[in-house]
Amino acid sequence: MERFVIPHDHEITKEDRRRLNGHGSLIIWFTGLPSSGKSTIANEVEKRLIASGIRTYILDGDNVRMGLCKDLGFSEEDRAENIRRIGEVSKLFADAGCVTLSAFVSPYRRDRDAIRELVEDGEFVEVFVDAPVEVCEERDVKGLYKKAREGVIKGFTGIDDPYEEPQNPEITIHTDKSSLEEGVQMVIDYLVEKKTVEL
Ligand code: ADX
Repeated sequence: MERFVIPHDHEITKEDRRRLNGHGSLIIWFTGLPSSGKSTIANEVEKRLIASGIRTYILDGDNVRMGLCKDLGFSEEDRAENIRRIGEVSKLFADAGCVTLSAFVSPYRRDRDAIRELVEDGEFVEVFVDAPVEVCEERDVKGLYKKAREGVIKGFTGIDDPYEEPQNPEITIHTDKSSLEEGVQMVIDYLVEKKTVEL
């Protein structure tokens, strides 16, 4: 298909929006098994940031799959397309000046790495929310591990579908060993250290 797409150079930049906000913007990408704690940590980080006057936005697996990605399932190709779309949307939110918190299983390394490539150096912060599958299954927040064991759900990450661990994540949170507060603090400390935010 021949396409004639010529982007317009708008005059207001990401830097202008950051200056207006008084803080930086980037993508904090939470990846890990279902029930590892991604959404819980993202939610608490967002509360801390908002309380300090930082503009944020959360993109979350189940929510995005209700709308933007409701046409997608859980095959390898569909997950890749899911993550590609969310990566692009996350980039837009970071461009809009938000500390963008994206919480997705995102089991394939190449899909996550593709988002890192999409943005500038330092704008993609990979947070590996790590807990043994037995612990996640024990938590089974949504009862889906049970359904996977019963064979009702096929291709469930951690049971009969792969999860490729990050090799070099900026942050690893062992949610089976540390408290929620400790995990949240690790993310906040990182943002302060990188001067994205001042708290
Ligand atoms: S991803 O693999 O494409 O990144 P995403 O984070 O959007 O997944 O959605 C994962 C959520 O969908 C899980 O938290 C779980 O509630 C639900 N889900 C339903 N079926 C599956 C499945 N086969 N594998 C993983 N999660 C599933």
